[in-house]
Amino acid sequence: MTIDVARVRAETRAAETVVHLNNAGSSLPPAIVMDTVHEQLRADEVFGPYEAQALAEPGLALAYESVAELVGGAADEVAFFGGATHAWQTGLYSLPWRRGDRILASQAEYGSNVYAFAYLKERFGVRTDYVPDDERGQIDVDALAESIDDKTRLVAVTHIPTYGGLVNPVAQVGAVARAAGVLFLLDACQSVGHMRLNVTEIGCDLLSGAGRKYLRGPRGTGFLWANPRALDQMRPAHADQHSQTWSDVTSFTPAAGARRLETFERSVALQLGLGAAARYALSLGTSAIEARVCALAAALRGMLAEIPGVTIQDRGERLSGIVTFTVEGFAAEEVRVALRENHINTWVVGRSMSMRDFAARGIDEVTRASVHYFNTEDELACAADVVRTLTA
Ligand SMILES: Cc1ncc(COP(=O)(O)O)c(C=O)c1O
Repeated sequence: MTIDVARVRAETRAAETVVHLNNAGSSLPPAIVMDTVHEQLRADEVFGPYEAQALAEPGLALAYESVAELVGGAADEVAFFGGATHAWQTGLYSLPWRRGDRILASQAEYGSNVYAFAYLKERFGVRTDYVPDDERGQIDVDALAESIDDKTRLVAVTHIPTYGGLVNPVAQVGAVARAAGVLFLLDACQSVGHMRLNVTEIGCDLLSGAGRKYLRGPRGTGFLWANPRALDQMRPAHADQHSQTWSDVTSFTPAAGARRLETFERSVALQLGLGAAARYALSLGTSAIEARVCALAAALRGMLAEIPGVTIQDRGERLSGIVTFTVEGFAAEEVRVALRENHINTWVVGRSMSMRDFAARGIDEVTRASVHYFNTEDELACAADVVRTLTA
């Protein structure tokens, strides 16, 4: 299966008005996603929001099924949240931590994950150690295996970091975690909708994702997938009478599956939009998406690398659709602005977003051009031309 580029561009309203290379920030949603959201908002207005939710129940059920299918899990193993951090932190904080427990994490962890590890240390005396990267810049799986001890309760890895093209070898990590009997929490915020994911093949127990990034869902959406092995150990950190039934004066009965991690209040419209985005990705095929995204990113790296003064900053054996680079003599923001003046959207990642990696490599900031399957080779050539003109 290959991507029909003309079709996906026709189904993306902004495709002809802007060159969007900020898909790791927030992608352009396909028309079906925003139409789904608008339709439900209109139903809220016409029928009353609770009544409109009742009418939308089959659509919501399908949204859980579609997100589950996207990661290779079951619908009752998925919980919806307002963003990826909320999903990831709910997973982390709901585990049964005891003083002295230990987490092993990747260097590529997102800043909010690092915050959560620091919080666990302060509140509960749970220590996090960061596994070194190997010489290619990805998590050193042998070092991970050697570091696991009888205090280690969790391995936490970010699949694709926010700051570069790296794809961590998560199936190898999963094999190590499984062999040691340790839970594995995967931050797939950047990889869902970007590449083919299968939780059984990866061997993770918990996986979090964002709606708005490569999945092309609406803003304000995220999800957590958790298998029964993880769920059985979890005590939901955020819960309410929707996810826990007040069954006795002093006791609560958790909802079945991952729904016990949610709370009642939600945007039905956005969650239906998330479901539509998942179905759209499934209809294109995640392997086809991955192949095109990675090929376009490789082409862009090639074009940029030919420009004098440009350095590609992506590290890793396997690279994603995220292209990061620096331009000698120019701040990353100057590069972003020059591209924006030409209707090309990119982003700047500074050291505060990637403290561990950038500090170790002596980098302060990069310009990030994150491509998606609806981009064209011509668009990438335009972006490279702007950078060439800037440096000339
Ligand atoms: C790797 C990674 N994890 C987590 C997040 C946080 O996602 P959210 O902003 O939806 O909480 C991001 C956002 O850029 C990210 O890149």
